[in-house]
Amino acid sequence: MTQLKEVFTFSNGLEIPAIGLGTWQMSPEEAEQMTAYALNNGYIHIDTARTYVNEEGVGKGMKASGVNREDFFLTTKVSAFSKTYDEAKKDIEDSLTALDTEYLDLVIIHAPRPWDKMHTDGPIEKMYFEENLQVWRALEEAYEAGKVKAIGVSNFEIDDLVNLLENVKIKPMLNQIKYHIGFRDEQLVQYCQENDMIVEAYSPIGTGKLLNNPDIQTIADKYNKSTAQIAIRYCYQKGLVVLPKSVHEEYVDNNADLDFEILATDMDYLNRLVIN
Ligand SMILES: NC(=O)c1ccc[n+]([C@@H]2O[C@H](COP(=O)([O-])OP(=O)(O)OC[C@H]3O[C@@H](n4cnc5c(N)ncnc54)[C@H](OP(=O)(O)O)[C@@H]3O)[C@@H](O)[C@H]2O)c1
Repeated sequence: MTQLKEVFTFSNGLEIPAIGLGTWQMSPEEAEQMTAYALNNGYIHIDTARTYVNEEGVGKGMKASGVNREDFFLTTKVSAFSKTYDEAKKDIEDSLTALDTEYLDLVIIHAPRPWDKMHTDGPIEKMYFEENLQVWRALEEAYEAGKVKAIGVSNFEIDDLVNLLENVKIKPMLNQIKYHIGFRDEQLVQYCQENDMIVEAYSPIGTGKLLNNPDIQTIADKYNKSTAQIAIRYCYQKGLVVLPKSVHEEYVDNNADLDFEILATDMDYLNRLVIN
């Protein structure tokens, strides 16, 4: 499980482990159980969010694990609906309380626009540029106060990033984006990396969609691995931090068993897959 201990280094020198346990769609009880299990089985990185409504469970799991707080990395997210300075500041305080922790390793803005404005078929009505600058100010303050060790964003596109980069004091250190076999925005990844942002791949297994894909199964059979392992290893070989989620202990173990290499020809094959 060596990949669990590998790290990427932020522009401020802080390190973030390459593999983290995702907790979206976990109940508080599941989050408690899986956080404790993961931390006791080699994971040193947990990803939650204010709107997952499971931070208290994650916090309990952290305590139950017995692992020292400084020995693992914890991320949470300011709600996509919190678009004022006051709302963002309150989210950070509420997360610290719910997770029962003195500090957060990473806080990110969950999305540039409220969710109901993110997934529209038509043109984007409003970018929320001014609002995101206000929210960012709350993150910067928490960072300067030492409550948060690194700050970043999620689901930000290039225009959203330009708005921050041109107007803020402390630059975003990371962008957490949807990225998996068949769903990649390499232009965005390149833009982030050129601007000193670490890129995290969320939904690396396509929220389960990739598990039964016959083309990925072909590669999995060749390496004697699961489709989940191929999907996670693919993102890892692309140089991204990867956040697989599972509520099953055997899958949490399986997802961390990444000590193999997908050959360049097979990476090319996976690069070309179209996932519907
Ligand atoms: N920033 C954002 O907007 C955003 C959005 C989405 C996700 N995320 C983060 O990224 C994390 C991961 O993404 P995700 O939750 O969409 O899902 P995912 O990790 O892509 O896939 C999870 C699904 O795959 C199954 N699974 C996992 N490992 C498996 C294995 N080894 N064998 C068989 N099945 C396996 C899980 O089943 P079981 O759980 O039933 O075991 C679950 O159904 C989230 O939990 C969250 O932390 C962030």
